[in-house]
Amino acid sequence: MLQPIIEIDGVSKSFGALEVLKDLSFNVAPGEKLALIGPSGSGKTTILRILMTLETINGGTIKVDGEQLWHREHEGGLIPADERHLHKMRAKIGMVFQLFNLFPHKTVLENVTLAPILTKGAGREDAKRSAMTLLEMVGMAEKADAKPAQLSGGQKQRVAIARALALQPKIMLFDEVTSALDPELVEEVLNVMRRLAEETDMTMLLVTHEMSFAHDFADRVLFFDGGRIVEEGPPDDIFTQPKEERTQAFLKKIIAAGQRI
Ligand SMILES: Nc1ncnc2c1ncn2[C@@H]1O[C@H](COP(=O)(O)OP(=O)(O)O)[C@@H](O)[C@H]1O
Ligand SMILES: [Mg+2]
Repeated sequence: MLQPIIEIDGVSKSFGALEVLKDLSFNVAPGEKLALIGPSGSGKTTILRILMTLETINGGTIKVDGEQLWHREHEGGLIPADERHLHKMRAKIGMVFQLFNLFPHKTVLENVTLAPILTKGAGREDAKRSAMTLLEMVGMAEKADAKPAQLSGGQKQRVAIARALALQPKIMLFDEVTSALDPELVEEVLNVMRRLAEETDMTMLLVTHEMSFAHDFADRVLFFDGGRIVEEGPPDDIFTQPKEERTQAFLKKIIAAGQRI
């Protein structure tokens, strides 16, 4: 493997007495497309939120792009990172959530330009130009002046993707971005992600219940259960000949619920 862009080493995380991640370790290579699958409550969202610095960790270390995320190196040891460091590291990562989280009172265009102007000091005209290119890419340019309430769920999610891309992250995190959508709107969002995967060298981590999409999209699949990785491998192995009983049981349920994988 190349020098990993993400190195998660022995990470633990609890919410009160509930241990959600247990000594979790995995690496992600630059440009890799990784799918995280597993039952509800297995810790998939939590690890993405930790990478986004929306949740803290209780133990272990994480490196992003060669630098400690939650710590700073100091006199040969590690000390907790300060807000300035977290702010800098956050700029490397973009995230799209299950629920669109667009700013409701801003237009589509403003939703995409706001962060570059506020956090990166981009000029208004530059930010607009870049935003329009991104909106073009996700097929939403003609809705630039619309408000989120005027959009379908699939359209909102495509704007949310453009908004995350506007900060030019090296790493994109997608957390079940299609699971709140009506079935007929799922494909338009998956298509955008498919194009991103094909046309950019961004590192992408995807939590999804769309197994057929995960199969096509991912270079590697991690199967989570109970806050640990139970099994990992290339999609052809995980989806067609899973070794672990828990992976087999999970996929059986998915197929019984009517999904192709
Ligand atoms: N902020 C929180 N406070 C308390 N418990 C939480 C919080 N966030 C997540 N959890 C719990 O942590 C576990 C893992 O959640 P999550 O990472 O969302 O799982 P997944 O995304 O795999 O469904 C679940 O039991 C969930 O209820
Ligand atoms: Mg989740």
